[in-house]
Amino acid sequence: MKKVSAFIICLLLFMTLCGCNEKSEEEKIEEVAVENETVEAEDAKSGRTLVVYFSATGTTKGVAEKIAALTDADIYEIVPLDVYTNEDLNYNDKNSRTTKEQDDKSIRPVIASETINLDGYDRIFIGYPIWWAEEPRIMDSFVESYDFSGKTMIPFCTSGGSGIGRSGKNLEENAGSGNWLEGKRLKASISDSELNEWLNSYN
Ligand SMILES: Cc1cc2nc3c(=O)[nH]c(=O)nc-3n(C[C@H](O)[C@H](O)[C@H](O)COP(=O)(O)O)c2cc1C
Repeated sequence: MKKVSAFIICLLLFMTLCGCNEKSEEEKIEEVAVENETVEAEDAKSGRTLVVYFSATGTTKGVAEKIAALTDADIYEIVPLDVYTNEDLNYNDKNSRTTKEQDDKSIRPVIASETINLDGYDRIFIGYPIWWAEEPRIMDSFVESYDFSGKTMIPFCTSGGSGIGRSGKNLEENAGSGNWLEGKRLKASISDSELNEWLNSYN
């Protein structure tokens, strides 16, 4: 008899504890909704920074990653549908793909990367290598695909030595929207302190 009573007490205790800890479906849904609301509210109020880049041989990618780390930004890579081979990149060949593309300002290489939702980004750093003193045509494909209204656009490039030249202006004209600031050619080996100095000039 004692054993039966003890068993019943234990069972009741167990059921009570389970009952206390278990949240109803309604409570759980409400909690998730509140969490989502908080995240959305934070996103809406905080102007985020995005670093967009195209890099054929990794130099611009390295600089883009440093900028993203120093500005706590998200990063987006422009990946061509037809990736550039070494032959394509041969600037000594007047018939190479890049020579032909840079010779014709109307060419728009296709982008393979998924489109990015720019909502919530106030400031966009946009990086590329200099090809024949200008931006690679795929950068024009990118800027013509988005609306940058209300966003601050900051071009940067890497190169064998040439400056940023007209490339930033070309991008601004082709984009047709956004507040484009003067950009800069950055060394592949740029230090964090040099980079911070440049980044702070936009604050
Ligand atoms: C087709 C082509 C054309 C280039 N034209 C120039 C140029 O006009 N001036 C220059 O300084 N460097 C030029 N470069 C060198 C690149 O700008 C440089 O190597 C850049 O850092 C590469 O960046 P990435 O590794 O991100 O692709 C050219 C490179 C290629 C492949």
